[in-house]
Amino acid sequence: MKFFPANLSSGEPPGTFRLALLFLTPFLAVLITIFFLMTAWESRKIGEEQMSELKEVSNAFLEQIMVTRTWNARHGGVYVETSPDTPPNSYLNNDPHRDMLSSDGRKYTRINPAYMTRQLSEIADKTHGYKFRIVSLTPINPYNAPDEWERGALKELENGKVAAAAAILKDSGNRRVFKYMAPIKVEDSCIKCHARQQYSHGNVKGGISIVIPMAQYDRIQATKFRRTVFSLLAIGLISFLFISTIVVYLSRRLNREIKKNIEQKQLAAAMELAGATAHEMRQPITVLQNLVTLVSGKLRQHETVTEEEIGIINGQCGRINDIIKKMLNITSYRTKVYLKGKEIMDLDESAKPGDRK
Ligand code: HEC
Repeated sequence: MKFFPANLSSGEPPGTFRLALLFLTPFLAVLITIFFLMTAWESRKIGEEQMSELKEVSNAFLEQIMVTRTWNARHGGVYVETSPDTPPNSYLNNDPHRDMLSSDGRKYTRINPAYMTRQLSEIADKTHGYKFRIVSLTPINPYNAPDEWERGALKELENGKVAAAAAILKDSGNRRVFKYMAPIKVEDSCIKCHARQQYSHGNVKGGISIVIPMAQYDRIQATKFRRTVFSLLAIGLISFLFISTIVVYLSRRLNREIKKNIEQKQLAAAMELAGATAHEMRQPITVLQNLVTLVSGKLRQHETVTEEEIGIINGQCGRINDIIKKMLNITSYRTKVYLKGKEIMDLDESAKPGDRK
């Protein structure tokens, strides 16, 4: 597509549409770039917000569990009535007081914090869809062994590198889940059951891990993101329409100015050519006129017309012919000063071969 600089030299006005396009194309490119940058930035920001919201939720939640666990541990475990869902904990086998019989013959068993946590988790999973459990790198119960992510997180927690670990991962069903792990610190109340594992006060021995399905959070995020994209598009569209209207209006005016300018230049060139023609032709035509008057006088007097006179007539016709040839051979635009302040076309220079551009 040709834009106006090329067009100008060919002597035609560029046209409103092309002019408008010339200005709007870079504007549109900038607008689109900004749109993509802002969308990417917004998407990242929403992702970060989601992450910190999930961390807060998990933290608040795990704190509640810790409190319950501490309460349980401080009682050295609590007794509940046994049932098919709550059998005695086989890992408490060496505890002589694990099981109790009430005076009316009911069976009670001691529930240690880890056992209680498992049961709480089952309820949370059924009612709210999230799971949590306690894990340790040296578990008494193999059920409490960490998975791959938990193992890495536990190591970092035990080294004191981080206060809590978080990640967004895929679960076995390929659904996005948020995983969070907070450390469990050893208190005096823990030691009597865990002496075997060298628990000592203040140590981080294991962690509590929570898994929250992301579906609901992702839906909220997607809605937020869509709303942002939509408003960005709306702002972009409105500003584009606004700028387009202004650009089209200005282009039309500019185009009119250019047209006027070209017309003025064309008129000036025509006048310069006319001036040059008049200047070059005047002399031979005057000579011719005088000779014709002379010859016709001679003919009337029956005098003979000399060959020299015919020769001059012929010569002047040749000169006129040369001028016409030059005019037909104009390939460039050169002027020269004619009388003061007035320019005419320089026919000799303008008709020089090899000057075509
Ligand atoms: C009443 C005894 C008892 C008390 C008190 C107790 N635990 Fe445990 N804990 C156990 C038993 C038994 C298991 C393993 C079996 C299971 O999962 O129930 C266990 C499991 C754990 C686990 C999971 C890893 C593993 O070894 O299987 C961690 C971590 C843990 N306890 C930390 C603590 C902390 C910290 C405290 C103190 C706040 C504490 N426990 C108090 C008996 C107890």
